[in-house]
Amino acid sequence: MRSVIDILDLSLPELDALVATAEDIIARPDDYADACRRKKLATLFFEPSTRTRLSFEAAMYELGGNVLSVAGGNTSSAAKGESVADTVKTVSCYADIIAMRHPKEGAALVAANNAKVPVINAGDGGHCHPTQTLADLLTIHREKGRFTDLTVGLCGDLKFGRTVHSLINALSRCTGNRFVLISPEELKVPSYVKAEALKKNGVPYSQTTDLESVMPQLDILYMTRVQRERFFNEEDYLRLKDSYILTPEKLKNAKKDLSIMHPLPRVNEISVSIDDDPRACYFKQVLNGKYMRMALILMLLKEAGTI
Ligand code: CP
Repeated sequence: MRSVIDILDLSLPELDALVATAEDIIARPDDYADACRRKKLATLFFEPSTRTRLSFEAAMYELGGNVLSVAGGNTSSAAKGESVADTVKTVSCYADIIAMRHPKEGAALVAANNAKVPVINAGDGGHCHPTQTLADLLTIHREKGRFTDLTVGLCGDLKFGRTVHSLINALSRCTGNRFVLISPEELKVPSYVKAEALKKNGVPYSQTTDLESVMPQLDILYMTRVQRERFFNEEDYLRLKDSYILTPEKLKNAKKDLSIMHPLPRVNEISVSIDDDPRACYFKQVLNGKYMRMALILMLLKEAGTI
């Protein structure tokens, strides 16, 4: 049974096909309105979410399907101590596909190994968030028209930011890309991500703490929130939380066609005065996430022979 736990579970041709399907859904939504009729998506979210859960649910409704939802660990038998394995074996009896978010790294893989239906990782701890990367890729495709030859600045909490890890993994497979990693010393990209994605693929990258000095180089600036929920102590979080706040002043030397991205939720990282800047793409990412999740649900249910 095919599941998607990591963005690396999807080949480059499959990523291109998902983008093409999403573009077709945008152009011809009526053609997809009954594609998943009588099929059910279960959304199991053991961590807070607004965009990912609701966009998965909107995606399934727009495909003509239905949704079973667990939002918050306290509303399911996980609160009584039920394992992830038993939970997904149970949910497989009711649903055709599962999207799961869990605070523990690796929980999505455990789910995939035990479910009888496809599982989509909707975020596992500080590890991966492949469907956010799908949203990011459609946004980059629509803004830049390519996934190659881009200088991508990733800024903020690059240690715990799972969306950053998945995006590095995706874009490291495309030619000519270069990363500028902008973070406090304590929140640098983990060594394993650098080794397995950047070094292994020979992708050039630099690391800095200074956003403004690198701004003129960037084609994409991907801002991230400092992930309070992953910190071991509040004192460190408070010290680091406002390390980077993007303001119009800091964009003075940016390219005219810079794309400003953020997976959201935003806390302080981007001033709201930037929201009307034509380079701001973060609410486009939110919408694109729904179309890419529709494309992914279709792909997995077709492969499973369910539709
Ligand atoms: N980007 C993202 O994962 O948002 P939510 O936490 O609201 O789902």
